[in-house]
Amino acid sequence: MDTIATTERMKQLARAAARAGRRIGLVPTMGALHEGHLSLARRARAECDLVVLSIYVNSLQFGPSEDFRAYPRDPVRDGALARGAGVDALFVPDEGEIHLDGHRTRVEVEGLQDTLCGRSRPGHFRGVTTVVAKLLAIVRPAAAYFGEKDAQQLRILRRMARDLHDDCIIVGCPIVREADGLAMSSRNVYLTPDERRAAPVLHRALRAATEAARGGEASAARLTALVRETIAGEPLARIDYVEAVDDETLEPVREVRGKAVLAVAAWFGRARLIDNVVLGC
Ligand code: PAF
Repeated sequence: MDTIATTERMKQLARAAARAGRRIGLVPTMGALHEGHLSLARRARAECDLVVLSIYVNSLQFGPSEDFRAYPRDPVRDGALARGAGVDALFVPDEGEIHLDGHRTRVEVEGLQDTLCGRSRPGHFRGVTTVVAKLLAIVRPAAAYFGEKDAQQLRILRRMARDLHDDCIIVGCPIVREADGLAMSSRNVYLTPDERRAAPVLHRALRAATEAARGGEASAARLTALVRETIAGEPLARIDYVEAVDDETLEPVREVRGKAVLAVAAWFGRARLIDNVVLGC
């Protein structure tokens, strides 16, 4: 496995792959790799000729009071895990490689970026789209792989690629969970033992709502109330939002008729965790 630190070398590798007709699969990450990331790398391995996994802790997507400095970093472990998942090249640019001197460009997906997590994390998605647009321009992948846990991010990136006429396929991959249902996240390391025991309530709450929807409940108000009530039974959880939104526009829905995302964000101590389920599919 190659480790590439400069944009210039990454572009050379991408050009060589294009000349040889090899499809690149990109897995953008911020490191602190877990099974969720590795499932993306394995999917890229199965579908592409050359797998590039990028590790870049993107300061632009953290708010001033968020955990940019504390964000878990473990490059040696990440390298070993990436190699084991079949990654061909690890792209590990520093800030100066991503943002050239005097850079002025930001990428925004209007509307979609302002709801759900965008409300409690202003500027977050602008940071994500700006950096992912740059990674796509540098690596020129045929496909890029993202987890469905970040439901809003996935839909924003699909819209961005479409709006920018970028032919890269944005692939969403299923949420990978711990045995007790907790969605894997690099931020799970912030949980104390008690909070870790409490956190699977998010999955339990979404499962209860999924069952109710399968049983014919279509009212978004009643489904979100069920999620809230289930989470309220867990004193260590503090809800940020529970919403049922349209699968594509992320606008709130009143009735779950077509495909809808039931999304939740909640605090457990200093960890803000998200989870979701797609209903009606
Ligand atoms: O999902 C993430 O880890 C990040 O938001 C991403 C897509 C790597 C952009 O920095």
